[in-house]
Amino acid sequence: MLPRTVLMSAFFFLLAFVTCTSVPTSPDKNATEFIRARCGGTRYPDLCYTSLSGYAATVQNSTLKLACVATNVTLARLRALCSHVSALRFASGAEHVAAALRDCAEELGDAADQVGRTATELRGLESVKESEVAWRVSSAQTWMSAALTYEGTCSDGVRNMDSGGTSSVEADVCRRVGKVKQYTSNALALVNGLVDGR
Ligand SMILES: *[C@@H]1O[C@H](CO)[C@@H](O)[C@H](O)[C@H]1NC(C)=O
Ligand SMILES: *[C@@H]1O[C@H](CO)[C@@H](O)[C@H](O)[C@H]1NC(C)=O
Ligand SMILES: *[C@@H]1O[C@H](CO)[C@@H](O)[C@H](O)[C@H]1NC(C)=O
Repeated sequence: MLPRTVLMSAFFFLLAFVTCTSVPTSPDKNATEFIRARCGGTRYPDLCYTSLSGYAATVQNSTLKLACVATNVTLARLRALCSHVSALRFASGAEHVAAALRDCAEELGDAADQVGRTATELRGLESVKESEVAWRVSSAQTWMSAALTYEGTCSDGVRNMDSGGTSSVEADVCRRVGKVKQYTSNALALVNGLVDGR
């Protein structure tokens, strides 16, 4: 009796093992290949792929889902950066540096608002009328472009402040804003890609 039960368990264990290891790999692999291909059309393809391939299960082969995920990721990066710059501003001694950082944090907040609007335009887009799709994608492009402009204003302001002894703050903020601009540029490219077929 006992050996048979053991044998049966071993069989089912093996079956479960084979089933679980062989089946789910293929669709996800397709999705990551899809993401790699779409990222090839962005300005920073490596950053695009490394930051978005983790969402393959959500994206599948949908250009719309990919644009939504890229927008969400950009929004999260922007919000984190905005908090970082706000914190630096309170740590800064020199008044004009604090002022430049305050303006920068405000502009990053405005950029985040724009990216949030982009996300709103894209939400539920798969189920709206064709005529409304074009209009909403066009708005999404406008908001995302505006976000890039706000980010540029922020880094210009920080670069132009007379930083005196605090140039490391300037370098840190410019580097981080530069990175977030890459995320935004990629997200905009993926939103632009919605125009010629979802
Ligand atoms: C993967 O993609 C190929 C073509 O790109 C397609 O023929 C195949 O059905 C896809 N497989 C899955 C599991 O989606
Ligand atoms: C995406 O995959 C589904 C099935 O998995 C397929 O029906 C559909 O045609 C594919 N779409 C594109 C754009 O490849
Ligand atoms: C983007 O974020 C929103 C809000 O957090 C969420 O509801 C949505 O599912 C996300 N979209 C994708 C494609 O992950």
